[in-house]
Amino acid sequence: MSGMPSSVVVRDVGPRDGLQPEAPVAVEGRVRLIEALIVAGVTRIEAVAFVSPKAVPAMSGAAEVLAAVGRPEGVRLSALVPNVKGAELALAETVDELTVTISISETYNQRNVRMSTDESEVVIGSICSAAGAVPVDAVVSCAFGSPYEGEVAPADVGALVDRLRAVGCSAVTLADTTGMATPRRIDDVLAVTGVDVGLHLHDTRGTALVNAYAAMQAGVARFDTSVGGLGGSPFAHGATGNLATEELVAVLDDLGVRTGIDVEGLVAAAAVASELVGRPVPSRVAVAGPRSRLAAADH
Ligand code: COA
Ligand code: ZN
Repeated sequence: MSGMPSSVVVRDVGPRDGLQPEAPVAVEGRVRLIEALIVAGVTRIEAVAFVSPKAVPAMSGAAEVLAAVGRPEGVRLSALVPNVKGAELALAETVDELTVTISISETYNQRNVRMSTDESEVVIGSICSAAGAVPVDAVVSCAFGSPYEGEVAPADVGALVDRLRAVGCSAVTLADTTGMATPRRIDDVLAVTGVDVGLHLHDTRGTALVNAYAAMQAGVARFDTSVGGLGGSPFAHGATGNLATEELVAVLDDLGVRTGIDVEGLVAAAAVASELVGRPVPSRVAVAGPRSRLAAADH
């Protein structure tokens, strides 16, 4: 235990993970969501994915989204890419980071990107070479359990993380794609990988926030979250929404852990997300607001 970090980097993946399972939202709406996140103080945003439009119709128009977003100094936009073609398309635009997807679960990797995990590893090496100075973050899905193969050995996650670093990834993020992590399992995996990793948590079983807390106590200081708590892979059985950005930041504020992000701004961005998907978002803080929000006296 190295105790709570004094600051945490939050990468909002709502415009990508959040919107990917939804009916396609027009470029204008996606740009509005990204800009609402920027207004809230979010500086790291997974804005788009360069993936097959047949596989994920909601992510088409990635280049148009990147071109249209106003980017103040310090804002870094990431693009998810599954293969070299996606990386080439992304690198032809202005992107600050590539995120690449690979799963420790063979079945999920096949369903998601139609490659074996070994093939994805080779592809990621090629993407790192093509990316040059653009950093590449490998997001390892099903790192805390697979809905297809069940338990995942922490040693296998650790070995994959080492290999991804060896092929040139500048960062690695561990994803709990279908919410199978628990605080105990977070500790078990971090004991092998070390805490210089990001965590990408889904709240499928209500454990995302407690898992994030456990990880921070161990020293993890990077998290992927999704505004409004939207999200989930269309290719993983039983996937549901991400840890909501505003739910994490509300707790971090009270702990005195800095993020630079304003919860009321996130609540406003969550309202945009809700409008875009045409239904209420799952996040409870999006409804209740931060604990500092006072009720009118007649309530
Ligand atoms: N971006 C856009 N188009 C792409 C692409 C990319 N990154 N990669 C491939 N394509 C196109 C090909 O050009 C081809 O187009 P065509 O049918 O018009 O000729 C078509 O997609 C099929 O190409 P192929 O290489 O055979 O891909 P595939 O059918 O084996 O699918 C992936 C592989 C990786 C492209 C696809 O599974 C995918 O996009 N997965 C992403 C999944 C995802 O975003 N998951 C989200 C959770 S991480
Ligand atoms: Zn996810």
